[in-house]
Amino acid sequence: MQMGDAFPQGFQYLPGYFSEKDQRELVGLLREFVAEAPLFTPVMPRTGKEFSVRMTNLGDLGWVSDLKGYRYQAQHPVSGRNWPAIPEVLINLWQKVGHCAAPPEACLVNYYAATAKMGMHQDRDEKTFDAPVVSVSLGDAAIFKLGGVKRGGPTKSLRLQSGDVVVLGGDARLCYHGIDRIQGGSSSLLKDGGRLNLTLRRVSPI
Ligand code: SIN
Ligand code: FE2
Repeated sequence: MQMGDAFPQGFQYLPGYFSEKDQRELVGLLREFVAEAPLFTPVMPRTGKEFSVRMTNLGDLGWVSDLKGYRYQAQHPVSGRNWPAIPEVLINLWQKVGHCAAPPEACLVNYYAATAKMGMHQDRDEKTFDAPVVSVSLGDAAIFKLGGVKRGGPTKSLRLQSGDVVVLGGDARLCYHGIDRIQGGSSSLLKDGGRLNLTLRRVSPI
């Protein structure tokens, strides 16, 4: 089932926000960050089941999941080092589209191989929901699903392409969302294919 035409208040879909040149520059930066803070495979709390995405973070805090639960922490779970800083280009994005006076503290970097997906979930491990979540897509296109604030309701599908930005703010901040599938080979931005998604978050109360 599909929702009506309108997106919820506070949801922004900004197709082609980043030019191809911007995207290449951003990927260049991400390569350096991933060399410093390698992608790791998180596991689900309790069950220990591996996520199909690999992840790392930038910023003062990073989102991690392991047998003990989901949380934000200042250190990479494998290296024990602090996360690299969030680059200016992403801070600028937050300031332009986020409508939030306080800066982001975390940038979760998710890497999806062509077979990876992400089940419907809310982003609710932050201590404030007054700040938005701002997301950038790079590489292969993905089918993104947006639901409402209750699990299992009707959803809308959006094909997110490289350079697109999505904002979950206001009434949309706690909307369920997920990635149904990746369209492998739909972009040549990443040399090994797949998709990178960056999500900027504010964790502390504003
Ligand atoms: C997420 O919800 O953390 C990722 C969304 C996306 O990959 O676009
Ligand atoms: Fe999410």
